[in-house]
Amino acid sequence: MIEELYTPKQIELRGRSRELAETTMRPLAAKYDVAQEYPWEVQKAVKEAGLSGVWIPEEYGGLGGGVLDLCIVVEEFSRACGGMGVAFAVNALGSFPIIVGGTDEQQERFLPGIAAGEKLVAFGLSEGKAGSDAGSMITRAERDGDVYVLNGEKKWNTNGAVASLNTIFAVTEPGRGARGISGFVVEKETPGYRVGKHEDKMGIRCVPVVEIHLEGCRVPADNLLGGKEGRGFKHAMITLDRARPGVAAQAVGLAQGALDLAMEYTHERQQFGQSVSSFQGVQWMFADMATQIEAARQLVHTAARTIDSGHKNISKVSAMCKLFATDVAMKVTTDCVQLFGGYGYCKDYPIEKYMRDAKITQIYEGTNQIQRLVIARNLLREAASESS
Ligand code: CAA
Repeated sequence: MIEELYTPKQIELRGRSRELAETTMRPLAAKYDVAQEYPWEVQKAVKEAGLSGVWIPEEYGGLGGGVLDLCIVVEEFSRACGGMGVAFAVNALGSFPIIVGGTDEQQERFLPGIAAGEKLVAFGLSEGKAGSDAGSMITRAERDGDVYVLNGEKKWNTNGAVASLNTIFAVTEPGRGARGISGFVVEKETPGYRVGKHEDKMGIRCVPVVEIHLEGCRVPADNLLGGKEGRGFKHAMITLDRARPGVAAQAVGLAQGALDLAMEYTHERQQFGQSVSSFQGVQWMFADMATQIEAARQLVHTAARTIDSGHKNISKVSAMCKLFATDVAMKVTTDCVQLFGGYGYCKDYPIEKYMRDAKITQIYEGTNQIQRLVIARNLLREAASESS
């Protein structure tokens, strides 16, 4: 990170996050990966470090930071543990719909608890048969007096098993496609809200990814995001535009963390009478990896700055940074496993976890195929408007 490009507050934030990651997250990463349990002690430490609400406005008790501040923190956490990075970042994904689409009253009601680290929040968009095609969801919300009755099943709900709040998207007006979808803040105690199957995952194993069953779940009409029906899909899309740089920052952190470990290992490892890092072929791999990581980091930070500036069209650059950084993370973490040789393939060393954790970054919050679709659609739209 070139320090001159960041504010003193951001540099302090990075230092605070790095210290927490090194002292609390790195020593616990393997334990929670094996146990596949949510690391409550880490969540408590994040809360005590005052980092729970980095992206939440100060008036609601947050640090008032933007997406760039969020990305700085997520990169540092993920450098130590990709699972702990997303366990933190997913609270931004879950709370952005409230920030971008909630009424003042909803923001006052829900954001302070999230900012204080008292309440975790998840994001319920995907369904078993509505993944990339999010608009084809079938979870239904029907008005009944002062409540909406929700019925359906949400899938791939990261944080769902531990979150007190879940921003759930459901169809309020069938037949209207994306315009018939609305968002709701659902509290976990709501009757008819049930956490289902826990996925047994390849990576990010410390954060629960679950199914959410909504069975006659009666949600107060006051929890309809923005107080109006039909805005949910747009709120979800605007949320993903803001949140995707966070996934990209997780990827940068994983790639950087893997490179750090590979440089240390190859420096100590002796073969043919010399350290493995002294071979030119290995040094060129380091140079290529470091260049790719820095390019990814700069694209993530440009996307974050563009979003924080209030720019109107953020979809393209957000998708670009997610696509690029996550592909870099997969390549770098795989090459770093290679540099550890046979040891890299075994769980005695921490490197294979980086490769497992990296894979999901190419898939969630929109597969990289969807990111290409978003980029291409925006390119064509821009070309059409320039030629008219
Ligand atoms: N900002 C604002 N509005 C947007 C928008 C954006 N970025 N993208 C689309 N919209 C609006 C459109 O303008 C349109 O509005 P009108 O009806 O008023 O014209 C409406 O939304 C529908 O748009 P499209 O016709 O473009 O929608 P589509 O059905 O073709 O889908 C898509 C577009 C980009 C493919 C979208 O479905 C998508 O992003 N899919 C991927 C979903 C995704 O990322 N899922 C991951 C969920 S989170 C997760 O992984 C789990 C977790 O817990 C971490």
